Amino acid sequence: MKIARFSRLGFILAAAGSAVGLGNIWKFPYITGEYGGGAFVLVYLFTVLLIGFSIMIAEMFIGYMGRKDGVTSFEELAPKNKNLWKLGGFQGLAGLFIMIFYSVVIGWIFNYIVSSLIYLPSSVKEAELTFTTMLHSDFLTQLFYHSVAFLWITYVLTKGIKSGIERLNFYLMPTLILILLGMFIYATTLDSFSKAVEFMFSPDWSKINSEAFVTAVGHAFFTLSLGMGAIMTYSASMEKNSNLVKNAFWVVFLDTTIAIVAGLMLFTFLYQYGSGPAKGPGLVFISLPSAFYEMGILGNFFAVIFFIALAFAGLTSSVSLVEPMVQYFIDRFNWSRLRASVSMGLFFYLFGIVAILSNIDGYEELLTWGDKNFFDWVDYITAAIMLPFGGLIMAIFVGFVIEKQRVEAVLKPQLGFAFEAWYFSLRYITPVAMFIVMLNLMGVV
Ligand code: PFF
Repeated sequence: MKIARFSRLGFILAAAGSAVGLGNIWKFPYITGEYGGGAFVLVYLFTVLLIGFSIMIAEMFIGYMGRKDGVTSFEELAPKNKNLWKLGGFQGLAGLFIMIFYSVVIGWIFNYIVSSLIYLPSSVKEAELTFTTMLHSDFLTQLFYHSVAFLWITYVLTKGIKSGIERLNFYLMPTLILILLGMFIYATTLDSFSKAVEFMFSPDWSKINSEAFVTAVGHAFFTLSLGMGAIMTYSASMEKNSNLVKNAFWVVFLDTTIAIVAGLMLFTFLYQYGSGPAKGPGLVFISLPSAFYEMGILGNFFAVIFFIALAFAGLTSSVSLVEPMVQYFIDRFNWSRLRASVSMGLFFYLFGIVAILSNIDGYEELLTWGDKNFFDWVDYITAAIMLPFGGLIMAIFVGFVIEKQRVEAVLKPQLGFAFEAWYFSLRYITPVAMFIVMLNLMGVV
């Protein structure tokens, strides 16, 4: 059987499609708002360059050399203790867990695309009521749109790397970039643009504490899709003789640029028409729609295309979240792609329903343990524990376990004199930083 591979551009689009997601357009602006802007952005940028870029190359290397699902790639590349190291590949499970809430959020976005056609809330209060009513009492609407997300994502996965994933990204990514650029250019013409620039780039270091620092590091991971095998699984289908460093550069560059562009645009709108930047997770669903309302009819148009762009970002990331486990069942158990995609899809679909219920009045208590309900627990366990842990394993695996000559043979020609610096960062800087992040997020330090 001929193995389907990404084209060169196809790979970059798909990997960037994985990286550019709800993390960039929904999460990055609101955490930047929460931690006071400039200083936080600089820490995030610094982390992306120093740690994110290093691990991106390492993760691509494992997939590219292994050429199989994550578990098999780890197993084949480990010089000894193969049975232990292959466990590293089960990080792919984190993707399925993330999908449990990611698909539900994409459902909310679908709902907002449709409702913004005719309705925008006239005040932040009204916007909040609209959002919380959907969240806490409208089970059926959430179920309906979660089902649409599930069907779309599963369908694309059944089509495979070339006619499914590559194709989806080929259309959705350029559209997403065009929409954001168009809105960004409009934002630059508004008075408040300079305020947004100042907010995002003039650092006020007094606002940075250890929590802000750790959040920036954790977010660099989430936003670059690192630590769970999405990039690794895609890299297994990279063309032979690809330049991993160049590819990693493009993915990091696109992901970071889109986060900054989206942030500047949203903050401009919020300064110009709304209530300023510090609004928490509801920023996109609460503050933004009421800011759009102030723009009049143009606001409806902007709201619809903005939520379309957000949905596209979410969908292209979703397929990469499920693909590692799909590939695993195909490679290790000889499942057909159809069977693997539908089974994995059903997994996140069914648990996604539990996640919806865990926000619904009447069920919430049943599905809450400690200070978090099921939805929040899944978010917390995946982002706080599983991804940093996965990143740590990958850094150690490429930095210490795989023979250095093997790594050098592929990456030295591509990295040139920077090879030793990269290797050092992978071996020492990255593991220490990831370890601190994990401890902090688990509340130990
Ligand atoms: N990078 C995606 C985002 O920013 O929304 C989320 C994500 C996708 C995380 C794939 C991890 C992953 F493997």
